[in-house]
Amino acid sequence: MDLFSAILSLLSLYLLFLIISHFILPPPPPHGPKTHPVIGSLIPFYENRHRLLDWYTSLLASSPTQTFVIGRLGARRTVVTANPKNIEHILKTNFPNYPKGKPFTDILGDLLGRGIFNSDGDLWLAQRKLASHEFTARSLRDLLVSALDSEADGRLVPVLTSVCSERRAVDLQDLFRRFAFDVICNISLGTDPGFLDVSLPELPFVNAFDAASMVSARRGAEPVSAVWRVKRALGIGSERQLEEAVGSIHEYVNDIIKRRKEEINVKAAGEKEVGRNDLLSRLIAGGNSDEAIRDMVISFVMAGRDTSSAALTWFFWSVSCHPDVEAELLTEIMQVTRSKERRVDYESLREMKYLEACLCETMRLFPPVVWDSKHADNDDVLPDGTRVRKGDRVTYFPYGMGRMESIWGKDCMEFRPGRWMSVEEGEGKELLRVSPYKYPVFQAGPRVCLGKDMAFVQMKYVAAAVLSRFEIRRADQQSTPVLVPLLTAHMAGGLKVVLAERRI
Ligand code: HEM
Ligand SMILES: *[C@@H]1O[C@H](CO)[C@@H](O)[C@H](O)[C@H]1NC(C)=O
Repeated sequence: MDLFSAILSLLSLYLLFLIISHFILPPPPPHGPKTHPVIGSLIPFYENRHRLLDWYTSLLASSPTQTFVIGRLGARRTVVTANPKNIEHILKTNFPNYPKGKPFTDILGDLLGRGIFNSDGDLWLAQRKLASHEFTARSLRDLLVSALDSEADGRLVPVLTSVCSERRAVDLQDLFRRFAFDVICNISLGTDPGFLDVSLPELPFVNAFDAASMVSARRGAEPVSAVWRVKRALGIGSERQLEEAVGSIHEYVNDIIKRRKEEINVKAAGEKEVGRNDLLSRLIAGGNSDEAIRDMVISFVMAGRDTSSAALTWFFWSVSCHPDVEAELLTEIMQVTRSKERRVDYESLREMKYLEACLCETMRLFPPVVWDSKHADNDDVLPDGTRVRKGDRVTYFPYGMGRMESIWGKDCMEFRPGRWMSVEEGEGKELLRVSPYKYPVFQAGPRVCLGKDMAFVQMKYVAAAVLSRFEIRRADQQSTPVLVPLLTAHMAGGLKVVLAERRI
């Protein structure tokens, strides 16, 4: 058979398939992307690949129940939803049917092992119990605040002060990422990578973490998982890079565990106290295996490093566009810290309600985790009637939800922190409670983010410390930044600013 007839017969087969499927297969749902037989929504998906977030958002907005189904050649059927009832069902009511699932845990498995962030079922539950006990401990909160004190006073403020006096532009996103990394290492590992101190050499561990997250994110973006699996099996390209990075992370953490155990043993001769309050030391004291401790602390570093820095970056960008908001923030910060010689502590942070509203409003429009997926264990029907089949991917979409008129009203695209307050201005301001199923920025239900409170403490601390000392102007006034949805949402190109000393 020559090439021409081969093509012809393939074409006629496809035609036949089209005709049969037209009569036999159920029609595609009226909402959601255009689909074709066999290839599904491959074409519109490909056309929109550079603007998936906004494409998904518009598909959700035009669906009567804010839910659509997308299937394409090479990917599993995916239900995407911004419907609070569906989300409550997935994340709480029928939680056991919606684990992360193997397709996902495989992607991060090499980096995170079987740590809390990357496990399901009993393995997850046991770690969750252990970790939530540690996360609610007052000692961890105190450790966080003192780590923030020393990282801000000792590093962040001095860096900003010198940038300010030299009238240089600086990338706030980069500084916040470094800041967050130092802080999360302090509280989860009890180490100081000194990432924000540019005079110190960069640890291989820090770069390894960046490389490993980047390759893992790339795995997730691969059109078919076979591509990275083959590369891994052959040990080539980015997969080789990942293997080396994970090796160096494991080496670093194993070494800390070993040394910490020695330290504890020396101390234990006599006193019961662990001495240190970081999570790693407490996990050792709890008698966990080295591998379990390693995976768990790597999960913490992973979860806690880029999320709050992403939110802070978008916060400063949003505030720089709204001088009225900045003025009100300053009034609040000054009021709360007046009696404390402008020092921020845990109690004063709690009083900063408007600041909290501004952070919530920032994350509504720019959630650090833009989407998150589960995989159905069994067939199910969502509250809005959408059918879920065993093995389907089910994605809830905080980014789209923050931009849904049906949830936030006509002004959903405006940055208006007042929507989070019971009284928009003046005395008696309280934060409104918003259902976590309408605003699942920290996920919700049994698997809600463990670091939520800590994240707010950290973000408020940095926001107050920086705003009260510096006036911030964007170096590039024209630019509308682009959000890059890697593992966490980055601002493409960073946030370049120039600073002036704030005079009050
Ligand atoms: C603004 C900052 C943060 C946001 C928006 C955020 C958001 C989230 C989200 C969406 C999840 C669910 C992810 C998934 O299951 O795939 C999650 C889980 C988690 N987060 Fe956060 N997070 C933030 C900061 C932190 C911090 C500072 C920590 C501290 C270490 C932390 C610790 C965790 C842990 C341990 C989990 C896993 C919980 C579990 O699976 O049971 N997060 N977070
Ligand atoms: C963590 O922060 C605390 C509080 O500032 C500090 O005393 C401690 O030395 C830090 N730990 C490391 C290893 O940097």
